[in-house]
Amino acid sequence: MTNELTGKHFITLQDWSNEQIEMLLDVSGDLKRKFAAGEATEYLNNSTIFLIFFEASTRTRNSMEAGITQLGGHAHFLETDTMQISHGETAKDTAVILSRYGHAIACRNCFWDKGQIYLEELAKWAEVPVINMQSDLYHPLQALADLMTIREKFGEPRKINVSVIWAFATTHKKPISVPVSQVLLFPRFGMNVTLAHPDGYPLPTWILEAATKNAATFGGSLKVTSDQDEAYRDADVVIPKNWGSWVTDRSAQVVDERLEANRDWMCTSDRIGMARDKVIYMHALPADRENEVEDAVIDGPHSVVYDEAENRLHTAKAVMALTMRNIHERRRP
Ligand code: CP
Repeated sequence: MTNELTGKHFITLQDWSNEQIEMLLDVSGDLKRKFAAGEATEYLNNSTIFLIFFEASTRTRNSMEAGITQLGGHAHFLETDTMQISHGETAKDTAVILSRYGHAIACRNCFWDKGQIYLEELAKWAEVPVINMQSDLYHPLQALADLMTIREKFGEPRKINVSVIWAFATTHKKPISVPVSQVLLFPRFGMNVTLAHPDGYPLPTWILEAATKNAATFGGSLKVTSDQDEAYRDADVVIPKNWGSWVTDRSAQVVDERLEANRDWMCTSDRIGMARDKVIYMHALPADRENEVEDAVIDGPHSVVYDEAENRLHTAKAVMALTMRNIHERRRP
């Protein structure tokens, strides 16, 4: 598969035009149909992708590993504590060496103020595409799967109301990369986005400015509120999810007074009842059940979380299929 996207890094969807994202979605849909039909999709025979994880993962790791296998290639699952990264080897040296061994490098590094910088350093030196499997700022693989899921449920999603809502959780201090990627992307496809969070949990101002610009350019909108009920009212899509107070507090402490004060920020059946009749409930997962969301909601009729997680496979495959050179192209002078 040769195309204009071959060799392009996938670090943030801000670097991808709407037309390029449409191409990703088209290929995702095609790969999904072929997977269901049992058709072979070996576009990347004998290709290798290196998956570098600084943090744990279920969906991202397994969608990338299963995805490259289904495309005819192979993944190396790499944890940094068994790499020389643990002894201080630089992103530059890691990127140059792995480029000589294979066809793409993917990395998850969510350390605040470090992850995105690390990804960009890999991309600067890599001779193969670098795929962001989540940084402190962006999670483009998740946002792409979310857009695919919304499209499947609503068709052309222009003018639907999508609410990205902070929620209480105690499991770990989560990155802001999922809500950041969603508020940047959805207004580009005409959606009216409401971002709701309590005091102390803002997204960076420059992100909100970029999202507002995206909305003005592409016909969507962005509203920010500290009233969660306002965000549920008349929503077509609700995405209640925890993120850490990184912008106002760089401490890695998970539970503190500020968090405890916001226990009420939970997606309940009553709040789902404020939304439109056919509202869908989305979550990138893992969910902190009975903190972020009631079981009755995540296991209920409005929930599409498993379809959303399934689409991680098809979108990951599209990103790899479109950006990676296959072994034969790589050998050309
Ligand atoms: N949504 C998501 O990225 O899941 P994992 O952390 O399990 O990869």
